[in-house]
Amino acid sequence: MTTMSKHPWKTAWCRAFQAVMKIGNYFLNFRTPERLEGPGCVRLLPEKIVATGVKRVLLVTDPRLLQIGLPGPLMQAMNEAGLEYTVFSDLQPNPTDENVEAGFRLFREKKCEAIVAFGGGSPIDCAKGIAAKNAHPNKTVAQLQGVIRVHKRVAPIWAVPTTAGTGSETTVAAVLTQASTHHKASINDPVIMPRFAVLDPELTVGLSPFITATTGLDALCHAVESYLNWTYCTSLEKDLARKAVRLVYDNLLRAWENGKDLEARQNMQLAAFFAGRSFTRGCVGYVHAVGHTLGGLYGVPHGLAMSVILPHVLRQYGPAAEKRLAELADVCEMGGETAHEKARRFIAWTEEMKRKMNLPVGLHSILEEDIPQIIRWADAEANPLYPVPEIWGEEEFRALIDTLSRPEPA
Ligand SMILES: NC(=O)c1ccc[n+]([C@@H]2O[C@H](COP(=O)([O-])OP(=O)(O)OC[C@H]3O[C@@H](n4cnc5c(N)ncnc54)[C@H](O)[C@@H]3O)[C@@H](O)[C@H]2O)c1
Ligand SMILES: [Fe+2]
Repeated sequence: MTTMSKHPWKTAWCRAFQAVMKIGNYFLNFRTPERLEGPGCVRLLPEKIVATGVKRVLLVTDPRLLQIGLPGPLMQAMNEAGLEYTVFSDLQPNPTDENVEAGFRLFREKKCEAIVAFGGGSPIDCAKGIAAKNAHPNKTVAQLQGVIRVHKRVAPIWAVPTTAGTGSETTVAAVLTQASTHHKASINDPVIMPRFAVLDPELTVGLSPFITATTGLDALCHAVESYLNWTYCTSLEKDLARKAVRLVYDNLLRAWENGKDLEARQNMQLAAFFAGRSFTRGCVGYVHAVGHTLGGLYGVPHGLAMSVILPHVLRQYGPAAEKRLAELADVCEMGGETAHEKARRFIAWTEEMKRKMNLPVGLHSILEEDIPQIIRWADAEANPLYPVPEIWGEEEFRALIDTLSRPEPA
């Protein structure tokens, strides 16, 4: 269904930019990392790294994972394979440019040749930032943020995700926050895409139900936002988005109810991987553009921000998103007669899942005085780059933020 654009000039400019980007994208190397899959497969990684001739790696992880000993089996396998490693774990969730600088110094000091990223999106993104910085030691992280600003061969990255959400193991993005301004933005460049992704479901069985739920919904957001960005997606990205949505539909609640269900865990890892590969060309949309500002300003965990914002953005798109949402509803066999009804069922499903997993419908952390900044950052991130179903201006961003900040119904 075609709707009258609310911002005709801005829409015309964004759509023209996106038409050029679509052509440009065909010349970019959006490869898919090789993957190792299955329970316990992380132990096979060091042999594969050694086989490439690499002798010394920086193992980037986070302090909590080190504390619970999750990288232990990988470290043991590295010792057995004769692969030297230095651990860097001085990073926070929503990692910052300062974390990247510290990791880069250690990478140089220890003369590392490659990086093994072990953890959720935070360590993986920090690892990608370190690789980018190592290729451009005289540039700041802020100078590398944007589209194709690294554009140089970087140290190889092997990624071992321990959450099933961000898909960072297969994306061109590293999302990093400026510590001084709290502005969260991405380095987007195919050169920082990991070479290899290790999807070992045993690593995710210890995730709390809350992190399982929020990171799983992050994967769903990637698939849905990429699918709605029809302009950039080729048939591969559309297909991967559909597969990811179905995998989330069948497995997220199962993994949330029983964290030890290895099949559901493995399927959620696949969902995150497919969704990540889909949005790496398809891009994300306003859910992410607004969510990133909340992560940067208030430290809201990324998956939580995504899960809160997703249904509100989908509702606000209205008829502009109905056709594609109806297709996703069909993928999940949700029934319904018209596109409008199917789209409503799809949105209602996301809300129902959130209710079952005890996730909030709103966020109370947004301060009135920050709203103009939130709108500026979200608008600058999304427009003109993301080919979202409908181009928003200040009023629509404000309407969304008002909806997010409304008190939850009793
Ligand atoms: N690069 C991309 O394409 C991309 C896409 C989406 C999000 N992101 C970014 O990724 C970051 C979020 O990553 P995330 O959601 O994976 O969370 P995270 O990496 O910040 O981890 C969240 C928490 O879960 C813990 N944790 C991770 N794995 C665990 C396990 N197996 N068992 C127990 N605890 C575990 C961590 O220690 C941490 O405390 C954000 O900065 C977000 O912006 C990046
Ligand atoms: Fe995300």
